[in-house]
Amino acid sequence: QQTASLVVDGAPRNVISRHIYGHFSEHLGRCIYDGFWVDESLNVPKKDRIRLDVVEALKKINIPNLRWPGGCFADEYHWRDGIGPRTERPKMINTHWGGVTEDNSFGTHEFLELCELLQCEPYISANVGSGTVDEMSKWVEYLNFSGLSPMTELRKQNGHAAPWKVSFWGVGNESWGCGGNMTAEYYVGEYRRYATYARNYPGAPLKKIVSGANSGDYHWTETCMKGIPLNQMWGLSVHYYTVPKTWGDKGSATAFSEQEYFTTMQKCLFMDTLVTKHSAIMDKYDPKKRVALAVDEWGIWTNVEPGTNPGFLYQQNSLRDAMIAAVTLNIFNNHSERVRLANLAQTVNVLQALVLTEKEKMLLTPTYHVFDLYKAHHDAKRLSIQLNSPDYNVGGEKIPALNVSASQDSTGTVHISIVNMHPSQKVSLQTTLKDVKWKNVTGQVITSAKFTDVNTFAAPDKIRIQKFDGARKQGDQLTAVLPPQSVVMLELK
Ligand code: AHR
Repeated sequence: QQTASLVVDGAPRNVISRHIYGHFSEHLGRCIYDGFWVDESLNVPKKDRIRLDVVEALKKINIPNLRWPGGCFADEYHWRDGIGPRTERPKMINTHWGGVTEDNSFGTHEFLELCELLQCEPYISANVGSGTVDEMSKWVEYLNFSGLSPMTELRKQNGHAAPWKVSFWGVGNESWGCGGNMTAEYYVGEYRRYATYARNYPGAPLKKIVSGANSGDYHWTETCMKGIPLNQMWGLSVHYYTVPKTWGDKGSATAFSEQEYFTTMQKCLFMDTLVTKHSAIMDKYDPKKRVALAVDEWGIWTNVEPGTNPGFLYQQNSLRDAMIAAVTLNIFNNHSERVRLANLAQTVNVLQALVLTEKEKMLLTPTYHVFDLYKAHHDAKRLSIQLNSPDYNVGGEKIPALNVSASQDSTGTVHISIVNMHPSQKVSLQTTLKDVKWKNVTGQVITSAKFTDVNTFAAPDKIRIQKFDGARKQGDQLTAVLPPQSVVMLELK
């Protein structure tokens, strides 16, 4: 057993925006079609064709926002094809994801109905790569204007009198790649033009999000911050995926060695470096931190499950995924002065999913359970921490075994989330709480015998939240013995 020490400072800092806990749903594989939006004949509770068991599961974790329609798909999506009578909607090819035919049966109205059912905020990523300024401008008018106008009339004809007042608005996606292969300098000009005509209508100001860097492309961030006036953007995005091996052979979601587990966790921790460096560039141009860093795509990306369509990005979700989610969310919490929105890719049946479905069946992944635990941090005040962690060494490389964040909610309750990445050693953690009044501690844990363990349709509850009774109050100190490969949430009241 190893030992570690932690100091939690009770002086509250900034609020951890609940929007850090956002999700992403693209027209990709079985996320929208056969995920959220199912065939009429499927024997599950539905509203229209929206699958309500999936909705209920996501409501339980207080999903704050949902990004749509992509991803790469967003930059070839033409919103007018997805409104009006479904039988009359034109079809298109989804060229990025499997070359399948998109029938446009899930469009603007269906997405906003889904968000209403989820009680979450929509985050629409609009087409810059193959769209026009006018097309984007009209979409905003259709969504957000209540006065007399052509788009208001069209929306009314399509059965929705009131505007939806969408606020999160992505101006392009990955404009350096699938969103148009632009240079940063070119994109800045495009952004300024598109954003000008994406209007703020009465009662419906947009939170415009600049399509940001690919991982460590700091030039992109610098160019956007230098070239776009601060009052023309709410946020600037960055995308980073944890790929266990290489983009050519990403590695299996379920069969991997300890070396590969270690490398994956090491790559996951790189998010801290990325966020720190992008934030430092943003600080130069925006010292008051008015612009949010929006990590609007993140998560583990492995090879697809054998036998599934390579263009559909269907992967299983193991205990390793739970630890990636928990570590990343801790990183976001600790950087929440700047990181104020994030979206895990992708909610159902794609990449690091929360929910997997197979016909009528549905299961909650280990990642889902982390989001369930971590909802305690939504809109709570960040507490600063100092951690002294033992190392976890493999093959001459090391990472800290522990990863932590802490917050205090509006009732005064403190939550400390701790990941022990070491797969075989417990860690005894001694915590000093400065200026925190508390009487007792309770806890919950996510763990399993192997880091490759998964939930399956045959055994959907193998990995779930369990009671943790390894924490004690000893005088003013908090002690906890953290099981190997575990995510623990402590609650101090
Ligand atoms: O999430 C899958 C894809 O990854 C998205 O479509 C794209 O934005 C990113 O490259």
